[in-house]
Amino acid sequence: MGDAQRYTEYTNTLRQLASDAATGLPVALDQLRASIDGEASAQLRRLVPLDYRRKVGAFFTPAPLKERVASLIRSHKTSVYLDPTCGSGDLLLAASSILPTGATLRETLEEWTHRLHGYEINEEFVAAARYRLVIAAMLRHGIAEGTLRPNFDFASYFSNIIVADGLARLSKPSNFDGHILLNPPFGTISADARVPWTVRPTSAAAVFTYHAMTHLSQGGRMTAILPDVLRSGSRYRSWREQMDTLGVKEPLVTYGQFDEHADVDVFLLAMKAAPEHEVESRSDWWASTPTAESAGRVDDRFTVRVGSVVDNRDPLEGPEYPFARAKDLPASGEMSLPGRKRRFAGTVFKPPFVLIRRTSRPTIPGQTRVSGVLVTGKRSISVDNHLIVAMPRDGAVDSCRDLLEVLACRETTEWLDNRIRCRHLTVGAVRDIPWTVHSLDE
Ligand SMILES: C[S@@+](CC[C@H](N)C(=O)[O-])C[C@H]1O[C@@H](n2cnc3c(N)ncnc32)[C@H](O)[C@@H]1O
Repeated sequence: MGDAQRYTEYTNTLRQLASDAATGLPVALDQLRASIDGEASAQLRRLVPLDYRRKVGAFFTPAPLKERVASLIRSHKTSVYLDPTCGSGDLLLAASSILPTGATLRETLEEWTHRLHGYEINEEFVAAARYRLVIAAMLRHGIAEGTLRPNFDFASYFSNIIVADGLARLSKPSNFDGHILLNPPFGTISADARVPWTVRPTSAAAVFTYHAMTHLSQGGRMTAILPDVLRSGSRYRSWREQMDTLGVKEPLVTYGQFDEHADVDVFLLAMKAAPEHEVESRSDWWASTPTAESAGRVDDRFTVRVGSVVDNRDPLEGPEYPFARAKDLPASGEMSLPGRKRRFAGTVFKPPFVLIRRTSRPTIPGQTRVSGVLVTGKRSISVDNHLIVAMPRDGAVDSCRDLLEVLACRETTEWLDNRIRCRHLTVGAVRDIPWTVHSLDE
């Protein structure tokens, strides 16, 4: 037995639970509630090896994110919801939470069957999704309190949730006018020939969302949970431009870490399909700069580059220079020449300049997101590629000190958290940091 097959142990539990509840046997309300909440994820982690979960990108949406999705989709009326990578149905459960119920449980199940569609490559997850939706409908009817005890076969419900390759289905021409809900796999896949923004292997999440938007007819909607790098990473600029030709975005929701088990920052993208000529105004993928309180951007005053040394790759050839590495740098402040030396034949930098670490974790409350270190001295320095170098266009040490203040101020942390939530700062993000005047006046 391998891969997702072990999940059958849990789908059997769900089947028994649904069957007991439907036939009026005593079932603990807490157990029913847990089965439509985080339990499916916990069982996934217990039963299915991490290697396989990573391979297919199986990370089920946790309750707080489900609620965010439900609140985003609530205001849009739609006939049908489709989750093309539905896992064990968490996003369909979010959709069901805003669907009305019928006069009887049977009526509700019929209506929800009609309106909730899903594709998933693992049949064990498909089975779990169906049972969980049945249980959600029972809970909405108060069946656990014993108010309704129909003795019927529920196996025929949710027949639109099926084993299928969601990407293949989305890639086919269609006129789907419902609402696509997506928490796709986040791994890397080859971009197929119909993806116009890249020829290289790329994020599966980018490919799924692009095909989802092309699958919709005008007016159809998509709400997706996506890795933050799609919103903020420079290598997804063409994807963002393509997406902007396919519809109108609602203001983006930056969310933070997916959950305590998946350390990846995500955002929520909600879009309505519309032809390019009708897309009048495009909202930003990040906060716009500069703001009223800022006077331009860092780029106006500094040349910003990534350090040029790849230490374990570049040969120890050329002149010997002092060598600045991220791990030898003080947390902030000023330094003169680094003690470490290295031979290097590539680009070196002449002080004064500011070094900024490329890895910077977002959203640690109360902490500054980035801090710079001012380097002074007369000799040129080679710089490790884990550091960003900001060289003042006027060559002045005082300009570098001003930059240290801009980096340290609260507004910059807030701005960066909004602009880029993944751990690697980009040169583009540093260039765009607003030059916040009032922080320098205080
Ligand atoms: C990130 S999980 C999300 C599941 C569910 N949408 C949720 O929000 O909980 C992605 C799911 O996609 C499934 N999957 C991966 N590739 C797929 C494909 N080509 N077609 C359909 N499902 C796929 C995985 O097995 C996994 O269950």
